[in-house]
Amino acid sequence: MLLCATMHYQRVGIGLLLWSVFFTLILAPTVDARIRHYKWEVKYEFKSPDCYKKLAITINGRTPGPTIQAQQGDTVIVELKNGLVTENVAIHWHGIRQIGTPWMDGTEGVTQCPILPGDTFIYKFVVDRPGTYLYHAHYGMQREAGLYGAIRVLVPDGVKEPFSYDYDRSIILNDWYHKSTFEQAAGLSSKSFVWVGEPQSLLIQGRGRFNCLASGLQADTCNSTNPECSPYFLTVVPGKTYRLRIGSLTSLSALNFAIEVNGSPDM
Ligand SMILES: *[C@@H]1O[C@H](CO)[C@@H](O)[C@H](O)[C@H]1NC(C)=O
Repeated sequence: MLLCATMHYQRVGIGLLLWSVFFTLILAPTVDARIRHYKWEVKYEFKSPDCYKKLAITINGRTPGPTIQAQQGDTVIVELKNGLVTENVAIHWHGIRQIGTPWMDGTEGVTQCPILPGDTFIYKFVVDRPGTYLYHAHYGMQREAGLYGAIRVLVPDGVKEPFSYDYDRSIILNDWYHKSTFEQAAGLSSKSFVWVGEPQSLLIQGRGRFNCLASGLQADTCNSTNPECSPYFLTVVPGKTYRLRIGSLTSLSALNFAIEVNGSPDM
């Protein structure tokens, strides 16, 4: 009798377990999780992020690339076309655990073959934890050439964060060198070692300011009146709360980030 009762109990247990698996696998994703679909084209373009014109790697014409926005449990799909003509590419999603999808981790030569010039690869992974993450190139020195961006994963519906805010902004800090990454890489790996030195600029969300006048460079190379090199502005509305998600993708620099408060003393 006891045995029967136990078996019966187990059956109920298995039944409940199956139901919960059913709910988790079949029902939950259709209720909560969404698919976030991105279509990216990676290319070289002339950019003047700090007034100095050089080749940068862009995603859909921009560096930093677009911010990926998702909610915990969502599936992110990035359809990436490599438009670099002579270079491979791979993107690493820094901080994303890739549970069940290790081949989507984007480390070229380790978890995937690189994406060949002209090819399209579809990255597909679940963002399982809320937070602020970064993505960046994982091939050669392409990250230093501008191939990076932010990932923002929000808490699921119904979950409250321990703070509240009106606006959510991502800011990536970076150091920026005027020499091409090829020239730097050749120096770093040559027999008489050539150190890259100090960066020419620090970029805030892909914007900085290099002193063209003092540099003596030609105006077609370094042009301080080029609107592309205006510093990064974040317009804020008084009385509103802003959440700033700060990330750093510097090659060498260690940075402090501070906000200078201007204006009336009571601010
Ligand atoms: C510098 O930039 C301004 C504004 O974009 C442009 O009008 C001007 O032609 C540029 N100068 C040179 C030499 O490229």
